[in-house]
Amino acid sequence: MRSLAEEARRAGRRLALVPTMGALHEGHLALVREARSRADHVTVSIFVNPTQFGPGEDYERYPRTLEADLEALRRVGGVDAVFAPTVEGLYPYGEAANATWVTVEGLTDGLCGRYRPGHFRGVTTVVARLFNVCRPHIACFGLKDAQQFFVLRRMARELLTGVELIGVPTVREADGLALSSRNAYLSPEERAQAPVLWKALQAAEAAIQRGELRPAAIVERMLQMLATAPLARPQYVELVDTETLQPVDRLEPGREVLAALAIYFGQTRLIDNVIVRIPSPTDR
Ligand code: PAJ
Repeated sequence: MRSLAEEARRAGRRLALVPTMGALHEGHLALVREARSRADHVTVSIFVNPTQFGPGEDYERYPRTLEADLEALRRVGGVDAVFAPTVEGLYPYGEAANATWVTVEGLTDGLCGRYRPGHFRGVTTVVARLFNVCRPHIACFGLKDAQQFFVLRRMARELLTGVELIGVPTVREADGLALSSRNAYLSPEERAQAPVLWKALQAAEAAIQRGELRPAAIVERMLQMLATAPLARPQYVELVDTETLQPVDRLEPGREVLAALAIYFGQTRLIDNVIVRIPSPTDR
C-alpha cells in the first residue's frame, strides 16, 4: 500500500483516503464521492479496528461484507485502491500487546468518550497508522460521527501529519434516520421508532432558531421528543461548543453549537447530531 501511495505521490497526484470499517452504505459512498471530487487518487480502507471496541461491544458480530463492499465501490467508480489489512498488518505486535498509542486529551472526555472509555484512543491510533501507510493529502470523514471528526482533525494538526480533514454531511433515510451499519441490528419495531433521534435534533434546531439560548431548555425539549418513542433509552443528550466539545452555560449568538445524542434501542446504540449556528436577534 505504501509503495502504491508513494508512486502516486511521485507522479504528482493528490491522494485522498476514506477510512471505513466496511459494511458500506450510501453514507460511506458519499465520502468516496467527496474524495473523488477533491483528489485524483482515492484509497478506501476497510478494517474493523479491534482497539476501538470496548469489552462487551460488538467487535465480533460487527458486519463483515468485503465482497459486497468491493462490488459497491466498483459501482461507484473512481476508487484507485482498497486497503483491507489484517489485524497483524496494523498491529505488528498484536492488538493485545500494542504499546504505542495516540491519545487526544480534553476533546475525548465528554459525549461518546465518557461512555466508551478507550474508544477514541483506538480510533486515533488506527487512523494515525492508516495515514502513515496510505500517505494521503486529504482524508474524508462523516459528520455523523462529529466528535470523531473533531478529535481526528485535532490529532492530524497536532501531529503535523500534513493531512487535511474534510467533514462530509450526514446521509439520511427518507424518514431522517442517519445511515449506519448498526441500523441492521434494529427490530422492525425499533426501526419504526428510530427516526425520533432526528426529530429530537430538529426540535433542538428549531428552538435555537427561535432564539432559545438556555442549553437546559433545549435538552429538555429533546428529551420530551425522545419520550414519544417508548423503545428509545437515552444515554446522553448534550449541547457542546464545536471548538472545545465542552458544555456551554449559555448559547452565544454567532458561535456554533453541536447538539448530540446517543440512544439505545434494545442492545443497539445509535448516535446522531446537528451543528447549528446560533442566530443573533438581528438574524431572525
Ligand atoms: P465507520 O463507522 O465504518 O464509518 C466510516 C466513515 O463513514 C466515518 O467517517 C463515518 O463518520 C462515515 N459515516 C458513517 N455513516 C455516515 C452517514 N450516514 N453519513 C455520512 N457519513 C457517514 O467511523 C469509523 O468507521 C471508524 O471509527 C474509522 C474512522 C474507520 C476508524 O476505525
